[in-house]
Amino acid sequence: MNIISDFLVIGTGIAGLSYALKVADQGPVSLITKRDIDITATQLAQGGIAAVSSPEDSFSSHAEDTMVAGAQLPNREIVDLVVEAGPKAVADLIDWGVNFSRNEADQYDLTREGGHSHRRILHAKDATGREIERALVEAAQKHPNITLYQQHIAVDLITENKVLRQTLDVNRCLGAYILDIKNNKVIAFGARFTVLATGGAGKVYLYTCNPDIATGDGVAIGWRAGATVANMEFMQFHPTTLYHPHAKSFLISEAVRGEGAILRRRDGYAFMPDYHQLKDLAPRDIVARAIDNEMKKHGDDCVFLDITHMSADYIRDRFPTIYQTCLEYGIDMTKVPIPVVPAAHYLCGGLQVDRNGETCIRNLFAIGEVACTGLHGANRLASNSLLEGIVFAKSAADASRQRCSESYPPLPPIEPWDCGSATNSDEEVVVAHNWDEVRRSMWNYVGIVRSDKRLHRALRRINQIQQEIVEYYWDFYITSDLIELRNITTVAKLIIQSALMRRESRGLHFTIDYPQTDDENFCHDTVIPGPRIPATQNQAT
Ligand code: SIN
Repeated sequence: MNIISDFLVIGTGIAGLSYALKVADQGPVSLITKRDIDITATQLAQGGIAAVSSPEDSFSSHAEDTMVAGAQLPNREIVDLVVEAGPKAVADLIDWGVNFSRNEADQYDLTREGGHSHRRILHAKDATGREIERALVEAAQKHPNITLYQQHIAVDLITENKVLRQTLDVNRCLGAYILDIKNNKVIAFGARFTVLATGGAGKVYLYTCNPDIATGDGVAIGWRAGATVANMEFMQFHPTTLYHPHAKSFLISEAVRGEGAILRRRDGYAFMPDYHQLKDLAPRDIVARAIDNEMKKHGDDCVFLDITHMSADYIRDRFPTIYQTCLEYGIDMTKVPIPVVPAAHYLCGGLQVDRNGETCIRNLFAIGEVACTGLHGANRLASNSLLEGIVFAKSAADASRQRCSESYPPLPPIEPWDCGSATNSDEEVVVAHNWDEVRRSMWNYVGIVRSDKRLHRALRRINQIQQEIVEYYWDFYITSDLIELRNITTVAKLIIQSALMRRESRGLHFTIDYPQTDDENFCHDTVIPGPRIPATQNQAT
């Protein structure tokens, strides 16, 4: 069975939903998500959305903070474009029904996070993403042109190169094969425009504050189809996630430090002044490395985030979600410091796109965390991600709407999915084992502090696992677990290869073999083009 629409949008966070809403008046939209519509990273975003909105602030200051956090690697043109689009993006969200927190003077309350020189972060208490997701989901569900497919996971993209088995100068994306998870059936979704808005890849690492869906699907399927990835070595580790055996790396927002919390060692010593003049509000890479260093030096399992000097009423009102979650684990943050550790949080690299969010495959857009737009460089400034997601969704929607009116060569027919001689698996333990091995290897060898030796060790493991996956993929029916394993393994390999290419330390990439920043040789993106030779349709790569 084939399903045809004008727009195929894969992912239902801020980027996918706002793109769908912007194009839906133009034609039918198929909106795909592999779990329920609101199981997204956006839903979990706590801090907020950075946008210049006070007279003391300025676009140039926001842009400069972004450049500094990104270790001078961001593309200044893109930084200016995104920062200047901030106020309009926020206005769009408000129009869609997002309620941001207001202060006593009934102005939008602006909070602060690491690396920001001004208060410029709009938030909805400590659950900004939940509020944004709520409003966008409501708007999308009301639109008659948007058809939602939940429990559907993308397997691979369909491109003209693959369909015609040749390498064309301009390779067009024609849609994607999507597994209907409940009915165990692969469907070909054809579309004039395909949008990857699949979010990040925190699940590549053992410890992450990302939701379980963050398996780098868009990066992996886009790259396999021939799109280029950039800056994959820059995985951001959030400095403060709750340290508790049952807490699954729950995020403790940087806004807690923005409002005055202090990082302490077990003995009470406040260590951040030893590392940076901005102390607890230094950029994230510096804070995460400082915590990692303190834990290793003192043999501690965690450090502590202390906001007990603020009034209990203020803490409960400003951080209701964090307060309540900590309490469920027996920690009253109004009375005792919160035990915290760093965890994988945000992939700054991804599919390389132009200023419209389009990849090098025509009509294939990548927006949100899946993309590398040039905004983040070597380290993302806090709360710039929701902003990037919505700004690029708008640019991609504008570009696709405009292209709708252009004449378009007819699409070649799309073959239905062929599962060959696959059978039901009798050894699913292979999938479970390899999931764990990829994530553990990445955490131990490709984490906050790297070395060539560790990276090569990880690469050997990943190569072996990739070989096993190819065999497994051919022999057995695909499942969502296998698709995700294949994707985290592809992404893991791209991260390692990119890290090996960058022989310097910059932003989030720190290696003991090249501890200095080398502007002369490495002040540029790390780029890995997708495979040129089209694999046959359905081929496991
Ligand atoms: C946080 O609330 O600390 C996360 C915000 C972000 O990653 O931008």
